Amino acid sequence: MCLPLFHYYNTTSNGKKMQTSRSIYIETYGCQMNMADTEIVLSIMSDAGFTRTNHLTQADVVLINTCAVRDNAEQRIIGRLGDFYHYKKAKPDVVIGVLGCMVERVRKELMDSGAFIDIIAGPDEYRKLPSLVEAAQNGVRGIAVGLSRVEKYDDIIPLRTKGLSTWIAIMRGCDNFCTYCVVPFTRGRERSRSRASVMKEVEDIIRQGFKEITLLGQNVNSYCDGNHDFSDLLASVADVDKNLRVRFMTSHPRDMSDKLIATLASRTNVCKYIHLPVQSGSDRILELMNRKYTVSNYSNLIRKIRGVIPEISLSTDIITGFPTETEDDHKQTIDLLHESNYDGAFTFKYSPRKNTKAWSMKDDVPEEVKNQRLDEIIYTQRSISLDRNRVMIGRTTEVLIEGTSKKSDADLCGRTDTNKMVIFPKNGNVAGDYINVRIERANSATLFGTQEHVFHQSPVLITRES
Ligand code: 5AD
Ligand code: SF4
Repeated sequence: MCLPLFHYYNTTSNGKKMQTSRSIYIETYGCQMNMADTEIVLSIMSDAGFTRTNHLTQADVVLINTCAVRDNAEQRIIGRLGDFYHYKKAKPDVVIGVLGCMVERVRKELMDSGAFIDIIAGPDEYRKLPSLVEAAQNGVRGIAVGLSRVEKYDDIIPLRTKGLSTWIAIMRGCDNFCTYCVVPFTRGRERSRSRASVMKEVEDIIRQGFKEITLLGQNVNSYCDGNHDFSDLLASVADVDKNLRVRFMTSHPRDMSDKLIATLASRTNVCKYIHLPVQSGSDRILELMNRKYTVSNYSNLIRKIRGVIPEISLSTDIITGFPTETEDDHKQTIDLLHESNYDGAFTFKYSPRKNTKAWSMKDDVPEEVKNQRLDEIIYTQRSISLDRNRVMIGRTTEVLIEGTSKKSDADLCGRTDTNKMVIFPKNGNVAGDYINVRIERANSATLFGTQEHVFHQSPVLITRES
């Protein structure tokens, strides 16, 4: 741990100097990886003497952790930077910093956009933040945008927000270079942390009382620390505590090995849920995307997974309107949704990104066609999700309670290990409890039920290890 670098001293009535800590406000956009990075930033800044505030107006340092994966994310962030511009005008002493993926993409534009941005730091440069802040306070604007080939934050314990679930970044970057994707350019080459450092962090997470952990990586299942692959790591994490739920994301279909499927099947506390982006149901488009599998490879993989783990829940990502996508390509995507029988899908309109290979392809699918296809994909998936959820009616499933339902104070909400949201009456239970819920009705997004006490010879609640 570094020693605090910055302290302000106020003089007290008896003339003694009193240390006051300064506060930092941070907004995070984009994926869970960015959320995890924000916790690393908070840890670094906390070691430098800063405390987190959730109120912008109380902050000495205001940071925004950005996402560059699609244009609409960037536009939202640019809008927010407009607010910060006015804030800086009103409070010139506040340090404003832009972090994350957008920095790597548009650093020049950000630096040119006016002196209100004091600091620009890319995803591998957060260790420099304390010195960048210090320089900014002395009137020197700072920029740090290097990308590393080795893991930079192995020894930093993120400053986690208290709760039931947390995540842990086990690898960074991506070498896949899907032709639409900016991640290899904004987050750099793929690198994995050592299993030893991940395990140390997992033990710390358990000590802090978390009940669920998600192992994160842009391409999580290609994790390799030289000696251990992702299945080895997953097994080690799951075996630390059978009551800790373990999830992971995002998996690339090409790296979904038989060994990993077997590990998933063999550990009761590894959640039976895989997010497995397919992106398109057309071989021609998949090749243009450089996804390195065919529809038939992918479908065989799903069949194999369902063969080993029949209860598995699967979700996917779909991009619609990739350059040259025809009506027939789109129909093949719809067919694949039906065949794969996903529990859920995240759907996106293709957004051209500078530097990527697809940037040089003509973005030739008109906006209204992209919208139409997106609507059809969403509509189709909604009805598949509804059918999948209705299958649960009449079954009893274990739920980890997350808290009070947003819609009713009398109800709680929680998730199944297959990642389905369940709503049920409180009945004296509290967040963090595992309970069995009998499902009575379902819509495409949520299951509804009541707690079930399962009685054998003597009353026994079904436990996680059973
Ligand atoms: N346009 C639209 N969607 C994209 N994604 C990544 N890049 C783009 C892009 N340029 C989607 C992919 C990926 C998810 C995280 O974001 O579906 O799996
Ligand atoms: Fe982007 Fe493809 Fe890497 Fe995913 S696997 S982060 S879509 S390049």
